[in-house]
Amino acid sequence: MQIDVAALKSIFDPKLRPLIGVDISSTAVKMVELVDAGKGQPRVERYAIEPLPKDAVVDGNLASIEAVAETLQRCWKRLGTSTRFVAMALPTAAVITKKITLPATLRDQEMEIQVESEANQYLPFALEEVNLDFQVIGPAPGNPDDVEVLLAASRKEKVEDRVAAAEVAELKPVVMDVEVYATEAAYELVTKQLPGEGAGQIVALVDVGASAMKITIMKDDQQLYTREQAFGGVRLTEEIMRAYGMGPEEAESLKRSGTPPDNYEAEILHPFIEGLAQEVARAMQFFFTSTPYGEVHYIILAGGSALVPGVAEIVGQRTNINTLLADPFAGMAISPRIRAKQLATDAPSLMVACGLALRKFDQ
Ligand SMILES: Nc1ncnc2c1ncn2[C@@H]1O[C@H](COP(=O)(O)OP(=O)(O)OP(=O)(O)O)[C@@H](O)[C@H]1O
Ligand SMILES: [Mg+2]
Repeated sequence: MQIDVAALKSIFDPKLRPLIGVDISSTAVKMVELVDAGKGQPRVERYAIEPLPKDAVVDGNLASIEAVAETLQRCWKRLGTSTRFVAMALPTAAVITKKITLPATLRDQEMEIQVESEANQYLPFALEEVNLDFQVIGPAPGNPDDVEVLLAASRKEKVEDRVAAAEVAELKPVVMDVEVYATEAAYELVTKQLPGEGAGQIVALVDVGASAMKITIMKDDQQLYTREQAFGGVRLTEEIMRAYGMGPEEAESLKRSGTPPDNYEAEILHPFIEGLAQEVARAMQFFFTSTPYGEVHYIILAGGSALVPGVAEIVGQRTNINTLLADPFAGMAISPRIRAKQLATDAPSLMVACGLALRKFDQ
């Protein structure tokens, strides 16, 4: 039984740069390239969003590697960059993480052996089926002789499918992150939207995409809570299809623009927004009942479904919590080649891609 931790490190290590953040979501491939505008300050240089064929990605699994590869290639061409290095992420549910404590004096190799033996104890599958990675977080609280180590394990095929799709598209994966960590990285950016940069505040990031609502609750640089609920924009799309006898493409374009029938707002759109707000309120209740915390100061809404007009307002009213739309590019310089107005519209759905693009700035 052996895992090649050393070989893995080369995938996880973001030494090669520049770098594109690539989010393979359920409806689209999204790419963001950030460059150093001086003093380590990021500037958004390019971004692109390319829709995926239906069912190419289901529950974070690449059902069709070819379809994903083709979409990656189209997205990269549209991006118009020269770099092929990419940072990608695994879906949060595909990764098991655990914090362990090890003696601080261990050398790298000894630590690898310890990590493997710990992983062997609690992983529900054989070690040869997993990719294993670890990172020393810092001194263990209460014991200066120990360090805390974060261990991350994922089924090999999850990593291999993404790497394969990227390679078919002639891209070079250099970082394999986890979606929730990319979201946390992007959190640092959206705090620029908050008074006092959100210092000491409890902030709920709520990403409402097509199929899922992903909640990450942060206090400064610490994640307090994370949860996923089955609620997303496809509900609205399906309601439109049912009510007006439309196909999926037609329904999708009615959502985004176009002139809706007279009863649309009252009978279709409003119930959807109320349902969404209720789902967010439910998530907040889960947070309060399963943690010692009794308060959330801000809700930041991300994901394409946050773009439905009026969503932030209704969520704010139903939860009694200040609610705003995520803008990971808040306070960031923007390349003149980007249309600022379009970027502002797309920004809430670019959180993960943006968090991944930030990996370039990691030391
Ligand atoms: N302007 C808009 N108005 C309403 N809905 C929109 C708008 N733009 C996008 N959407 C909806 O947002 C959803 C896509 O959002 P997003 O790109 O965040 O999803 P995703 O990341 O692919 O999904 P998931 O995170 O569930 O995998 C779709 O359901 C789409 O119809
Ligand atoms: Mg998403």
